[in-house]
Amino acid sequence: MKKLLIATNNKGKVKELRDLLKVLNVQLVTPADLNLNLEVEEDGETYAENAEKKARAFAQASGLVSLADDSGLEVDALDGAPGLHSARYAPPLTLSPNSGNLGGARGGWTDSDRRAYMLENLRGKPRPWTAHFHATIAVAFDGKVEFAEGDCYGEIIPEERGNNGFGYDPIFFIPELNQTMAELDMETKNRISHRANAARNALPVLKKIFEG
Ligand code: IMP
Repeated sequence: MKKLLIATNNKGKVKELRDLLKVLNVQLVTPADLNLNLEVEEDGETYAENAEKKARAFAQASGLVSLADDSGLEVDALDGAPGLHSARYAPPLTLSPNSGNLGGARGGWTDSDRRAYMLENLRGKPRPWTAHFHATIAVAFDGKVEFAEGDCYGEIIPEERGNNGFGYDPIFFIPELNQTMAELDMETKNRISHRANAARNALPVLKKIFEG
């Protein structure tokens, strides 16, 4: 059976992408399945640049068609921050409040630290704190790359709600559903999320690659 590599080490993304891509007639594999230990530096200036970099690096290392997602949360009251830097959003080189580790690097901070830091930066700013998630998917195959994009709109709320998902989900509220992203079951998140919209937009390309 043909294989598609889900080119990310983020467990939250892997779980969602596995579900979103199960309609394809391919075997979905992860870097862990292949014992592939690859950290790609995300130093691009756009989501597309970072997604392409990750997809190409994993495709080259594995020889498989590889799909990478670069995503982020853009908060209007923070002028679009943290955006591209969502995974690394943290005050520079101070003690991390929850993990007790040195901050600054992605590994030293927890998702919970990042949410607390965002709320600290929003304190005193008028609500609603409108925001949207963005995802760009890159699919690398035969030395080429194709892209697909998706968004999801909502607002940041000052208290955490729900235990599902990952990252900023507990403080990302979707007014139409009256729930945060972390209160949604995976089926619902995978119907409405930025990653779901991007994956849906990527399906024609993937079908063409695998089904001709
Ligand atoms: P990257 O794509 O590896 O640069 O990481 C994107 C970062 O954006 C994640 O580490 C999360 O902090 C955040 N993010 C992206 N998608 C989601 C989501 O679906 N829920 C919550 N946070 C997300």
